Amino acid sequence: MIIYNFWRGHPNGDLLPVQEMQEILTMMCSPANQESLRDSLQYSSDRGEATLLKEISLFLRRHTLKDELPEVSMASKKILMNDSSPPPPELDMFLTHGVSHGLDLLCTATTKKDDVVLVERPTYFLAKDIFTSHNLRVQNLPMKKQPVTKTLMVDVEALGRGLKDGSIDVPRMIYIVPTHQNPTGNTMPLTDRLILVKLARQYGILVAADEVYHLLDWSSPSKRRPARFSVLDHLISKQSEPLTNVDISAKNNIGRMGCSVSVSSFTKIFAPGVRCGWIEGPASIIDSLVDVGYIQSQGGCVPFVGNILRTALAEGLQDSILDKLIISYKDRSKILCDILESESGIQIHHRPDGGYFLWVEFSNISSAEIFAVYCLDRGLKFMPGVRCDSVLEGFEQSGQPKELCQHSARLCFADMDIIDVSDGAKLLVKLYREYTGKL
Ligand SMILES: Cc1ncc(COP(=O)(O)O)c(C=O)c1O
Repeated sequence: MIIYNFWRGHPNGDLLPVQEMQEILTMMCSPANQESLRDSLQYSSDRGEATLLKEISLFLRRHTLKDELPEVSMASKKILMNDSSPPPPELDMFLTHGVSHGLDLLCTATTKKDDVVLVERPTYFLAKDIFTSHNLRVQNLPMKKQPVTKTLMVDVEALGRGLKDGSIDVPRMIYIVPTHQNPTGNTMPLTDRLILVKLARQYGILVAADEVYHLLDWSSPSKRRPARFSVLDHLISKQSEPLTNVDISAKNNIGRMGCSVSVSSFTKIFAPGVRCGWIEGPASIIDSLVDVGYIQSQGGCVPFVGNILRTALAEGLQDSILDKLIISYKDRSKILCDILESESGIQIHHRPDGGYFLWVEFSNISSAEIFAVYCLDRGLKFMPGVRCDSVLEGFEQSGQPKELCQHSARLCFADMDIIDVSDGAKLLVKLYREYTGKL
């Protein structure tokens, strides 16, 4: 039986850059590049190879020039936006084996047993295990449902109030997926990002912004994508006026650096198999990663694979791969939404404008988990929303009911080819109608 797999969050196999990889490897191994090839077979410097770090910075700048920034001094803006002025912006960066490794390293370097990490409801379903493997306590962020769109967002005002009146303990870390979120596809607005960045600095919290989908973006030009957290943190840190209500005596604040970092990777924009990513943030955080024991022992991550990615970036291949992926995933997401919207019982609160996922809510069913089993028996697989919503210790502080995700599902449109996305969507409509007795 064919299974239409909307569960798996993998890139489509035919979109992996096999052709480009052949070109890259040929270039890397050419007589003219023997020296850089030899260098990439050696240990690398702790933060990662400098020319790759520079290429990533330039690439990020090329693809984020139109990102929405707050009104700040022109001088700060110029540092971040001027494409032609070398060197790249003064954001410190560290190479990793990907977002998962980046999060793990941040835990190693900046947390201790029993520290609290706050996460969204719902969130990336595999992140929690990274935190619990460091003996951290994972709790929920306050969440709100937007009144009109019904999309789920972090309630940053409630977070600020809770931290101030002590009803929310100051966490060591806040983990968010702010752009084209996994699983909802939502993007946190700039105003909320700024509040969070300031709260982090005020209370000594590390905001780990998982921005793995930031560049996989097809927002309309009228809807600017908000800037990444590391950029906002950098701008806020440069503001001359002091932050309001700075409370350096706040509980748990002593000796804790509060700031926001961007954690990202080549997983969604090149290929997961290269296991290469980066963390951008203030020098103090980046230095603390360098101090981790195994980094001291092994040196920088990905020297050889880094050479592959440096070549892809320098030769413009990464730019064209990204353009191709954006077009492909945009088409898949459109066809999925168009077909599902033909059935009013399957509600889409937000049509994705980036990322891998569509979040839907089913009317007239008691549990998406039970409906998922019904669908699986009939050749269709999706992730029930509850898998992405660990109802955690102290979930009440999320301000949302325990059953928040009971009727919802995450559908990945990236894994299948477009015909299967279309046929799978039609099958989902049919199965929903059968199941709810609409046929
Ligand atoms: C939100 C999010 N973070 C991290 C990852 C994994 O990233 P990496 O392969 O770079 O570790 C994924 C993959 O699905 C993801 O959706």
